[in-house]
Amino acid sequence: MTNLTNLITIRDLQKLAKRRVPKMFYDYVESGSWTESTFNSNTDDFKQIKFRQRVAVDISNRNTSVSIFGVKSKMPCAIAPVGLLGMQHADGEIIAAKVAEEFGIPFTLSTMSICSIEDVARHVKEPFWFQLYVMKDHSFSKKLIDRAKTVGCSALMLTVDLQILGQRHKDIRNGLSTPPELTVKNVINLMKHPKWCLNMLKTSRRSFRNIVGHVDGISDISKLSAWVSEQFDPKLNWEDVARIRDWWGGKFIIKGIMEPEDAAEAIKIGVDAIIVSNHGGRQLDETSSTVSMLPGIVKDVGGKVSVWMDGGIRSGQDMLKAIALGAENTLIGRSFCYGIGACGKEGGTKALNILRQELDMTMALCGRRDIREVDSSILRF
Ligand code: GLV
Repeated sequence: MTNLTNLITIRDLQKLAKRRVPKMFYDYVESGSWTESTFNSNTDDFKQIKFRQRVAVDISNRNTSVSIFGVKSKMPCAIAPVGLLGMQHADGEIIAAKVAEEFGIPFTLSTMSICSIEDVARHVKEPFWFQLYVMKDHSFSKKLIDRAKTVGCSALMLTVDLQILGQRHKDIRNGLSTPPELTVKNVINLMKHPKWCLNMLKTSRRSFRNIVGHVDGISDISKLSAWVSEQFDPKLNWEDVARIRDWWGGKFIIKGIMEPEDAAEAIKIGVDAIIVSNHGGRQLDETSSTVSMLPGIVKDVGGKVSVWMDGGIRSGQDMLKAIALGAENTLIGRSFCYGIGACGKEGGTKALNILRQELDMTMALCGRRDIREVDSSILRF
């Protein structure tokens, strides 16, 4: 058991995850594409936004809960889909789904998860969300949708910014593969992480189990970049998106919107929410941060659809800023992953508690007691 008392910030969890997770998988999470300029702007731009301190107002009985698709969520936040979460910690997606359920926020399972949709569903009571990538073989994507429906997933999140994979230098240098290839370099690094290895040996979940055994003719699934370029559909267009929405027929979220024109397309086909996202700076490098694009998109969308955001949220303060700038909900990927990598279930729970406490106290110091009433007047422009 890890002593959690000294883990006070998300940064503390990150440092511990860096020590405990093999380099290849820690780096996979902690990278952006090319120069990582977008990856860095996502966090840096949050720091430019300042709150207005208010005093002598009643800040008792505060509320951070919101309703997301009619379901109460303890804070305006969902767990983002994270590929290979089950390589941050053995059975990572199952652990993460349980943490989110117990804490009371939505969990999104990635297509590129290690634990399968069915496996995760067996371990939780409440419905979770499923994130879809579209393969060249659309019938395989349809099968994934049917599987998500069968286990009762309550929303489908379609990622539209990853028809090809942005180049991440660290992954190339590390020879990222799932499970890791047993090269001399990898074996030496794995030996430095005995606990991780032991946990991995205890589980059978070590490859992309949404895919393996469910589709024929995939040559090598272990190398993410090769696999994406072989299988993902570079022709994906808005007509396909509309077809996918019809196949699904339930709550439908589009992730990866950065420009008002694309938001307008999503609204035209009828979606329930759009996520302002640049894939955590992992796709197009040298584009704007999500937090800088958010207010313009919120304004353009004009309430026609719910606007959410992800990218760069490393504290409850960041979450509050996103809400103040008009996001109805946020998604967290890395902030939560660090917790899972650092110490599994306890670490994931710790990350969510840290974020919620920061959100709550910062809201209070801005003189507000209900997150549903927070707007841009808490910020200084
Ligand atoms: C996609 O799953 C990624 O690696 O960003």
